[in-house]
Formats: sequence, structure tokens, C-alpha cells
Amino acid sequence: MRQSQHFGIDVGTTKIVALAGRVEPRRRIAEVTDLGEASSRGLRRGIVVDRQAASESIWEAIESSGVKPGSATVGIAGGHINSFNTEVTLLNRGRNKVVTPRFLRRLENEALHAVELGPDEQVIHIVPRSYTLDGEEGIRQPLGLAARRVTLRAHVISGSVQSIQNLLWAVEDCGVRVSEVVLEPLAASESCLTEAERDMGVALLDIGGGTTDIAVFWRGALTHTAVLPLGGQSLSSDAAFGLKVPFEIAERLKIRYGTVLSTTVDTFAAVKAKDRHYNAHFLSQILEYRGREILEMARDSLDKARVRNFLTGGAVLTGGGSLLDGMTELTEDILDLRARLAAPRRVRGRIKPLQEPQYSTAVGLLYFAAKSSNLKPQHKGASATTFGSIVAAIKSWFGGGRSKMGLERRR
Ligand SMILES: Nc1ncnc2c1ncn2[C@@H]1O[C@H](COP(=O)(O)OP(=O)(O)OP(=O)(O)O)[C@@H](O)[C@H]1O
Ligand SMILES: [Mg+2]
Repeated sequence: MRQSQHFGIDVGTTKIVALAGRVEPRRRIAEVTDLGEASSRGLRRGIVVDRQAASESIWEAIESSGVKPGSATVGIAGGHINSFNTEVTLLNRGRNKVVTPRFLRRLENEALHAVELGPDEQVIHIVPRSYTLDGEEGIRQPLGLAARRVTLRAHVISGSVQSIQNLLWAVEDCGVRVSEVVLEPLAASESCLTEAERDMGVALLDIGGGTTDIAVFWRGALTHTAVLPLGGQSLSSDAAFGLKVPFEIAERLKIRYGTVLSTTVDTFAAVKAKDRHYNAHFLSQILEYRGREILEMARDSLDKARVRNFLTGGAVLTGGGSLLDGMTELTEDILDLRARLAAPRRVRGRIKPLQEPQYSTAVGLLYFAAKSSNLKPQHKGASATTFGSIVAAIKSWFGGGRSKMGLERRR
């Protein structure tokens, strides 16, 4: 194996992707040097349910990249994720009333303590949305400005301690040091969305295998996130059930002939797998039914957060599930928004298959890694002005409880 490098690791429900590479922060271009991939085991709907199986498949992905693991930025999703908006105000008693990185850290800490968490919950990110300085609203970058009374509006994302811990263990069992965990839809947003879309208002929908992840931006700031417990696998299981075939056959039929626009399919058309014929219209009806359910859940999530009417940038679909024929049209119909399909933007290097929607999260994780390492030296409280991750806290949860499972021998 080659020299160790920083990885972006997307532990998905259907596949694990381990990307080695770097991002050039100024030009915002990801230069991916190596891609490792393996099918995923031991996960259900984004959550580790079998630590040994999960670490083995993570290891397979890393090994197939041909690069020795060093540190990694890891994506997280699953039904245990909660998110909400919060607001805190502090008086600035500093000299000249200048807003310093230290003051912003204090504000962020204040926000952290103001949130009410369940006994098993921990904050994963506090993402500043905007600041109000002495009554002047909507300030995006307060550093260096003078103000006596500063309000921070932030989006807070929390998750279950145990679920996060299990994911980190599964990765660290492979000898990888996790430097940051990032909510998957935030990672996918980094690689798929344009600045203009974020400013206009946009909803990113990452339709994966086990979950559909949502991130909404408005006026350039993150305002809503959600993880829905349904994805492409549900469509395949429904098709397997309806057509009375094994899951693998249903998956193949879905990818090859499936659509969620059943009215476009001839009632008598037949499709073939393993020498047997199936009714194509029936297949499309099954897929449309579940596709609609997922998109209606997404619509309800946007409506609950009262953001759907503001999204002039429309909906951006990514993730493997978005490749199913008709998903973009069905999204436009149900969400009543313009929709487009997105793959990771600005990726360089010789690995061509990366420019597919399934890799949006993995590429986005590399963008995050660059952002964190790039910001730290500039002003120590980097997290105060960008996506902050509470990794130190996560690390402390490990306590003495970390026991490696039998993967050591492979290194
Ligand atoms: N060409 C295609 N047409 C239809 N569906 C597809 C296509 N390619 C992949 N899929 C579906 O995409 C899903 C996998 O997507 P993806 O690789 O983004 O998921 P994941 O990251 O492993 O899962 P998750 O994000 O939910 O943890 C599967 O359900 C698969 O059937
Ligand atoms: Mg995914």
C-alpha cells in the first residue's frame, strides 16, 4: 500500500466509498487521487447494526483504494439525526467592541448550552446562519466589525451518541483516525450546489439506498436539514414483493427498465430478467407509488420548516436513487419546484466514474476536510465562522470503552 493520506469515507447503506485526495481551497477544485469502493454490510438505514461486518466492508473499500489509511473525514446520516434553528445574544465587553474569533467562539458555546438535548443526544454541528450586530440584521461575516450586542442565528444538528459512536468505532477498527464527522447532506451540498443556488434558496435531496437526506439553503445559509428513513432500496424491495422475485432481480429490473412515470409505460409492455417476463407497467406503478411517498415526505419536511415557497433555486437531486428514470419530473410535480439532477462539481483527476450522483457525499467530505484544515490556522476559532464539528466531544465519548475488533491483524 502507498503512503498514508487523508480520506473522505462515505459509509452508505449500499456501498462504502473511500476517497483519497485533496481540495485546492482557493480554486475549490477537488483533486481525487484514489478511489476505493466496496459493497456495504452491517448497516441499516444509515446506522451500524453489525460492527464487525461494517468494519470489514470499510476496510475492503480502503484496501481497494491502494492507499494506507491515515486520518479521515466521515459522513453520518440515519433516522437518529435531529435539527433545529436557534438564536443567542451576547454583549461584547471587549476592547473597541471588535468582534473577535474568541467572542464568536463564546457565542457558539452559548448556543451549544442553550439547546435542549435528550440524554443520549449530542450536537454534531452548529452552523452559523447569520448575525445581528446592534440591530443590523443579516450579517454573514461579523469578524473585525465593532458591535456591542451580537446575536447569532444558527442551525443545530444533533444525533444519538450511541449511533455516532458505533459508526466511529467501525471506522477506527480499520486503523483510521477520524478527524471529523459531517452530516451527509451537508457534504453532498458542498460538492453539488452552486453559490447562486444557495443564495436564491435551494433544497438538496440526496436519495440514497436506505435514506433520503435533505439540506435547505436560503440567502446563502443552511436553514433546514432532515434525514428520511426511505431510499432506493425501498423501491427495489417493493418491486421484489410485488413481482414475487428475489431482491437482486428486482434491483436489476428497476435499474434497467424502471421508471416512476407509470403513465408513460405501455400497459402490455414486457421486460425480461433471467428468461422470465414481467409486466413493465406494473413495475412502474410499484416504483411510482414508493417514489411518490418519498417525495411527499420530502415536501412535508420542507413545508414543516416553512421553506418550500422560498426556494427559487429549486430542488437539486443527487444520490444513486435520483438516477431512476422520471425522478426529476416527479419531483417537479410533487414539490412544485424546478428540479435538476446533480453530480459532484469541479472534480479533477483520472478517476472518471466519480462524476456520478452516487459519489456526491464522498467528494463533499474531501471539501469539508479542506475547509477545516484551511481555516484553522487563519483564526483559531474556525468553527465559529464555518461549519463547526464537535469532534473533540465525540472523541471524549470513546472514553475507556474503545475496544478494537479483530481487524488489526490485516494491517
Ligand atoms: N441507474 C440507476 N437507476 C435507478 N436506481 C439506481 C441507479 N443506480 C443506483 N440506483 C439506486 O441507488 C441506490 C443507492 O444509492 P447510493 O449509492 O447513493 O446510496 P448509499 O450512499 O449507499 O446509501 P445511503 O446514502 O442511503 O446510506 C440503490 O437503491 C440503487 O438501486
Ligand atoms: Mg449516500
